[in-house]
Amino acid sequence: MLDSRISRRAALMGAGAVVAWSASPARALLQAAGGGRVPAFVDDLIRRLTVEEKAGQLSLMASAWGGSSAASLNPPGNSDFPKQVEEARRGQLTGVFNGNGARMHRTLQTAAVRESRMKIPLIFGADIIHGHRTIFPVPLAEVASFEPELARRTAEAAAYEASGTGLDWNFAPMVDVARDQRWGRGVEGGGEDVLLNRLFAAARVRGFQGSNLKSDAHMLATAKHFAAYGAAEAGLDYNTVDISERTLREVYLPPFKAAFDAGALSTMASFNEISGVPSTGNPWLMNQLLRGEWGFDGFVVSDYTGDEEMIAHGFAKDARDATRLAFLAGVDMSMQSGFYRTHLPSLVQSGEVPQDRLDQSVRRVLAMKAMLGLFDDPFRRISERREESRSMNRRTLALSREAGRKSIVMLKNDGDLLPLPRSGKRIALIGPFAAGQHDLIGPWCVYGDDKKAVDLATGVREAVADRNSIVVAEGSGIVEALPGGIEQAVAAARTADIVVLAIGESQNMSGEAQSRTEIIVPEPQQQLAEAVAAVGKPTVVVLKNGRALALEGAVANAPAILVTWFLGTETGHSIADVLFGAYSPSARLPVSFPRESGQQPYYYAHKPTGRPNPEGKLEEYKARFRGLTNTALYPFGHGLTYGRIGYSDLALSARGMPMNGEISVSARVTNSGRRAAEEVVQFYVRDRTASVTRPVRELKAFRKVALAPGASQTVRFVLRPADLQFIGLQNRPTVEPGTFDVWIAPSAEADGLHATFELTA
Ligand code: NOJ
Repeated sequence: MLDSRISRRAALMGAGAVVAWSASPARALLQAAGGGRVPAFVDDLIRRLTVEEKAGQLSLMASAWGGSSAASLNPPGNSDFPKQVEEARRGQLTGVFNGNGARMHRTLQTAAVRESRMKIPLIFGADIIHGHRTIFPVPLAEVASFEPELARRTAEAAAYEASGTGLDWNFAPMVDVARDQRWGRGVEGGGEDVLLNRLFAAARVRGFQGSNLKSDAHMLATAKHFAAYGAAEAGLDYNTVDISERTLREVYLPPFKAAFDAGALSTMASFNEISGVPSTGNPWLMNQLLRGEWGFDGFVVSDYTGDEEMIAHGFAKDARDATRLAFLAGVDMSMQSGFYRTHLPSLVQSGEVPQDRLDQSVRRVLAMKAMLGLFDDPFRRISERREESRSMNRRTLALSREAGRKSIVMLKNDGDLLPLPRSGKRIALIGPFAAGQHDLIGPWCVYGDDKKAVDLATGVREAVADRNSIVVAEGSGIVEALPGGIEQAVAAARTADIVVLAIGESQNMSGEAQSRTEIIVPEPQQQLAEAVAAVGKPTVVVLKNGRALALEGAVANAPAILVTWFLGTETGHSIADVLFGAYSPSARLPVSFPRESGQQPYYYAHKPTGRPNPEGKLEEYKARFRGLTNTALYPFGHGLTYGRIGYSDLALSARGMPMNGEISVSARVTNSGRRAAEEVVQFYVRDRTASVTRPVRELKAFRKVALAPGASQTVRFVLRPADLQFIGLQNRPTVEPGTFDVWIAPSAEADGLHATFELTA
């Protein structure tokens, strides 16, 4: 897993990035679209545009065609569609986003290419975060699969459906590392770990974009939100970020670099400030680092009214000032505020914005439209026929089911309660998520529909021999008690042999602007769990969640716990596959489940402190809380299977590694159980002493291995000095000799197998 590809990439972070770029898929995409140069007609076109038309090419607006959830996913905008069509005719728009399908796209595109002066095609964007109409597991869930190729496949399937309706451009993937589980948007990303975020960012970009951006089955990808949006203080969405350049470079930027290396040609400036400077107005971030240091060749779009929001940040005086600051900082396109089309012309006239800079951004946007094939055929993706024929077809639904079951993490399975028998037992399905087509698809679905998704009760009834052996009781609302609910649930539990308790978060408890102060199962559901546990039947907790939760009481003590996130259209089928053993759970936590909410931000790759608390004890004057060790209840990487997995025979190829050498570390993994299993074998490293302190463990590689009952396999990881690189004192990549710990382990906090080696100068 830690193959030369990854390690070379890591080595190229920072100063060597331009070298990586020249060999990157992004360069290849540009070459496929005309030799990596902007087509000559683009410059010709730019010469003929008025300043107002140029500002129009840099102005993106939300679709004004009302009537879908699109409108409810952002603060309300213009809902006057005829006015928007008129804007397209006047060349005041570069495109719209979160629109409503082929017919609407056709209407607007027709106005732009037949009735506007310059006939420049519009670009249509959307948030296709985890599926278009077929909804796949939320991104965080899918990362739990530890299978980037799965994410590439679901991204490609999502692009296939979405592009059939005329969508050219996706505002995904979100590649923000999220280390505070209170933050609601962690659900959209790759969790707490840098390596996983990098791998999934790259995979998703490849899926959305394919190898040719002109393909009518692919879309332009956007790595967002640039940068450090996930580092918001207190996990409060949109809040201040104040981190060191080292942390920025080491934790928050690598997933973006991976996305750009994989070919992402657009990025979105984040809402937050970093150390006093809003990203939308940060020339160091966009001009110097992104374009200068990294050689990024795509374009930057603001987030929704991100330029306008610099006034509220206290960074811009007024709308004109905000426009100037955002544009000169490197934001090519403004989303939703309309500031660019209103203020850029006069800023150019006064000389505050050089004409050349304006032309440069227009060139980037027009070049992208050319790469997407829009100048060849502006209607290439707009097809009422493909909108239907590509929608929710059998193969895509099967992929959703596969992705769903591969995303389910089994936290606990005392006494091998799972898998459940398909016959001979009465099962009580209890809880607000037991039945009903709600809270299935997850947050951030512009085009998905819960009513088209399979709920848990349906999935379970289809899986068992006798549908009548299933009894359902809601028991509680999501955040409010249900009159008589607990009594009804307790009665159902009494009549059953097994209880499946489906509890957790609603889908609007995570996602944008949905930060929580306490990451717990809501109180009425906790009370339901306590009452049902008192009945004493074997109970499987099926959690619905968009983040890591702090599990308490009867929920934490249940003999079996499955983390099922929001799995999308095939939710009920995917969960039933795991519950009844058609599939042996293979996912692992991409975020640590803490013991209590107050530990946030909690992540496994934390620093050691000067007073580490000894394992398994609570010592005075050590880094721990009153009455609580600062460890996870279920750490990153944890997850069980229906097999019985053991680790043995750790072997290092040498005890030392020279700076130009490598070392291989291997272990034997055995399934001594009676069922087949897939194990995610994880390889962690710690740098004992360095010129800047290093995390207690860092995931360097992993491999998912299939093990039949009784089978074993030797898993080998090759480590090179570049893999031990960190951002040193001068904020540059550094490798230092010294002692390193290595672990091959089933989670970030499991002992696993451990050894040390020396990196020698
Ligand atoms: C705001 C969100 O932060 C961003 O991720 C999204 O793409 C835009 N709204 C557009 O919907």
